[in-house]
Amino acid sequence: MHVTIEPMQICHLERIVDIEKEVYPSPWSKNTFINEIMDNGFASYWVAIIEKQVVGYAGIWTIMDEAHLTTLAVCHRWQRRGVGGLLMERLLVDAKALGATRITLEVRVSNDKAQKLYMKYGFLSSGLRPNYYSDEDALVMWLDNLLP
Ligand SMILES: CC(C)(COP(=O)(O)OP(=O)(O)OC[C@H]1O[C@@H](n2cnc3c(N)ncnc32)[C@H](O)[C@@H]1OP(=O)(O)O)[C@@H](O)C(=O)NCCC(=O)NCCS
Repeated sequence: MHVTIEPMQICHLERIVDIEKEVYPSPWSKNTFINEIMDNGFASYWVAIIEKQVVGYAGIWTIMDEAHLTTLAVCHRWQRRGVGGLLMERLLVDAKALGATRITLEVRVSNDKAQKLYMKYGFLSSGLRPNYYSDEDALVMWLDNLLP
C-alpha cells in the first residue's frame, strides 16, 4: 500500500464530502472546506491518497505559537492501516514549521479510537468542554512541547 500525503485541493472535495458523511454524525459541507482551503490564512489541510483516491484528510489552524487540529478522518475501508497516523505526523511537522509550540483538539468523549490515536502521539487530556457537540461533551487534549 503506497500512501501519499498532499495539500488538499478543490478537486479532492467531492470525495472528502463523501467520507465526511461516512464517518461523522455532523458532516462539514463542501463550502466549509472551500472556505478553509481558499480563504482561511491560518489553515493548512492535507489529504492521504492511495491508488489515486482520497482515503483520508486532516487539518489545523496555526495562530501564533498554538495549533488547533480541526479535523482528522479516514474512510472506513482504509482505517487501521496507519493512514490516520501518517496524517497526524504531517500535521505535527506542519504545525512546528509554522511556529507552533503546542497543539490542541477536541474529541467526542465516546470516541475511543481517535483518543487512542491522539494519546499515541503524546496528547494528554486536559478537561471536558460540556455540550461542545450538539449531543455530547468534548474531551480537550493538548500536546505541549512541540520542538522545532
Ligand atoms: C480516528 C481515525 C482518524 C484513525 O485513523 P486510522 O487510519 O484508522 O488510524 P491508524 O491506523 O493510523 O492508527 C493509529 C493509532 O490510532 C489508534 N487507533 C486507531 N483506530 C483504532 C481502533 N479501532 N481501536 C483502537 N485504537 C485505534 C491506535 O493507537 C493506532 O495505533 P496502533 O496501530 O499502533 O495501535 C479514524 O478512525 C477515523 O477517521 N474515525 C472517524 C472520524 C473521527 O472520529 N475523527 C476524529 C475526530 S476528533
